[in-house]
Amino acid sequence: MTWLPVSLLAVIQSFLLLAEAQQKLSLDTAADLNTNNLPSPPTLSVPSNGNPLTVSVALCATSSDPPRFFVTNDTTIPQPSVSDVDNVNTYEIVVGPEGFGSKQLVFINGGIVSVVKGSTATPFEVFISTNNATSEISNPLLGDTTSNQALIFSPAFDPPTFQQPGFPNYTLPAANLSIPPEPSSPTNYTLVFAPTSSAPFQGLPRTSCAIKSRSTAKGVITLSSVQSDGLWLRDMNGWRWEWFLGGLTAKTNYTAYTLQQGQLAASKPINFVTKSPTFNCPLLHQLPFCPSISYAVPLTPPRPPSSAHTASTIPSNVSDTIISYLSNLTTTLTTLACGRDHYSPLVTCADCQAAYRTWLCTVSFPRCTESPENSITSGITTVSGSSTQGPQVPLPAIKSVQANATPRNPTLPPFNSDYETLLPCLETCNAADRACPAFLGFKCPLPKFTASNSYGVGFVDSTEDGVMGGGTTGVAQDVYGNVFCNGS
Ligand SMILES: *[C@@H]1O[C@H](CO)[C@@H](O)[C@H](O)[C@H]1NC(C)=O
Ligand SMILES: *[C@@H]1O[C@H](CO)[C@@H](O)[C@H](O)[C@H]1NC(C)=O
Ligand SMILES: *[C@@H]1O[C@H](CO)[C@@H](O)[C@H](O)[C@H]1NC(C)=O
Ligand SMILES: *[C@@H]1O[C@H](CO)[C@@H](O)[C@H](O)[C@H]1NC(C)=O
Ligand SMILES: *[C@@H]1O[C@H](CO)[C@@H](O)[C@H](O)[C@H]1NC(C)=O
Ligand SMILES: *[C@@H]1O[C@H](CO)[C@@H](O)[C@H](O)[C@H]1NC(C)=O
Ligand SMILES: *[C@@H]1O[C@H](CO)[C@@H](O)[C@H](O)[C@H]1NC(C)=O
Ligand SMILES: *[C@@H]1O[C@H](CO)[C@@H](O)[C@H](O)[C@H]1NC(C)=O
Repeated sequence: MTWLPVSLLAVIQSFLLLAEAQQKLSLDTAADLNTNNLPSPPTLSVPSNGNPLTVSVALCATSSDPPRFFVTNDTTIPQPSVSDVDNVNTYEIVVGPEGFGSKQLVFINGGIVSVVKGSTATPFEVFISTNNATSEISNPLLGDTTSNQALIFSPAFDPPTFQQPGFPNYTLPAANLSIPPEPSSPTNYTLVFAPTSSAPFQGLPRTSCAIKSRSTAKGVITLSSVQSDGLWLRDMNGWRWEWFLGGLTAKTNYTAYTLQQGQLAASKPINFVTKSPTFNCPLLHQLPFCPSISYAVPLTPPRPPSSAHTASTIPSNVSDTIISYLSNLTTTLTTLACGRDHYSPLVTCADCQAAYRTWLCTVSFPRCTESPENSITSGITTVSGSSTQGPQVPLPAIKSVQANATPRNPTLPPFNSDYETLLPCLETCNAADRACPAFLGFKCPLPKFTASNSYGVGFVDSTEDGVMGGGTTGVAQDVYGNVFCNGS
């Protein structure tokens, strides 16, 4: 190595400083920074662009004195700060209680983001996006659990376009639905989960970088979309990645997040609870003719290496019967009503077929469950020692079924042990009743009379006949891992 003259070294150093001071943010690329290692002055430049850009910031760790962020597209302000926010083109990017914030601006001549650091060193991320990425990311979705497995879905994306068929060529989707082609560039999601009691995410900002920073903490598991079971189209909300988790601990409450590429904010978390070790119903999923089914059913488990039932492992007379019912309904609908006799100004034959399919699938496959007191014995204890057992949760619609009882669906073989079943939500039936023409004679039991023998009543809708909404929970399942009745 040759030695440089001292004077030249000094030149190089100041050149480096200058380069650092002009640190440029790239579009659609996250910049990982830390308040204890900022350029001087602590500013970052935004490239010029004629379209609106969204500047997002996210804290990557808990901070008692977090930094503040300011942005301007007025290039005469070299270091925007709190004293400049009166200027019409200078704003604070307010970091909310969950640790992230964003501001959309046009940067015709470029702009500046400045960081005003607090007293503690805090890692953070800055991201400048060219698309109108919404910062509200929906939750992942729980399919169901067994004692050691779970089915978890990413938030939905790329909803399929459905062409309403028309007369005279009124063609409804086939009874045995064919899965449409997958989106060519699906949104990538990563699933991160851990037992809730190990509290790896406790007190963290709800940001992707903060959640990722715990990936090596005890019990934390991170799975990319490549490590999923692939894409699945449960319903018209869109495609979802489906993760089939194994090796979980029985009777355990888990917390899960999904992280989306290009989004600084993590999803809101969901909880899911595994069943007790004696729970012996296998999971059933990936049925093309019943795409929304993803829960535990009273069937003999499939032969290894399969560890959950799919269309190829369930008894063929079960799938044949469901497809036959759906074909017959489709035939009746298309010969009698569709595209000509507008039986309703609000709904079409396609709506009827879809609602009937959901109802038929839900009642054809009983769902196994466990009384909440069996599955989880006590509240999770927090660091402060207080119990976080929340407010009173309504009891789910559960019915006990004896071993070898004749199932409600006569094509299902009897199950050889006692189990508890989660009744279908009455709303699943009412939705088909509302969407289908009266001549089909589809009738649901009335909430006030016999319905509760066979359905979960009063959870989503109130018990008032014909009144939608106003039920005790408003949902079939919540984000805390409680499932009240079987429905979507
Ligand atoms: C600054 O941003 C505002 C709001 O988006 C916009 O109206 C204005 O044209 C921008 N000015 C420049 C120079 O980019
Ligand atoms: C962003 O939203 C605006 C208004 O909603 C729209 O005009 C524009 O095309 C959108 N840009 C992108 C890249 O989606
Ligand atoms: C009717 O529509 C289906 C699907 O839209 C199409 O495949 C079929 O060729 C059409 N048949 C006629 C006779 O137009
Ligand atoms: C449903 O269609 C798939 C192909 O999309 C086929 O493999 C399967 O055998 C069909 N199922 C039944 C029960 O007909
Ligand atoms: C998703 O990830 C895969 C593999 O990492 C990559 O090939 C693909 O381009 C990514 N898709 C998008 C939309 O970013
Ligand atoms: C569907 O209709 C055919 C012909 O009418 C009948 O044989 C079959 O039993 C029906 N399927 C069901 C499940 O009712
Ligand atoms: C369906 O098939 C199973 C065997 O796969 C049989 O035990 C059962 O009796 C059949 N059910 C009906 C209604 O035929
Ligand atoms: C799981 O744990 C969370 C956090 O303690 C709690 O709010 C939730 O009620 C628990 N879920 C169940 C089903 O017990």
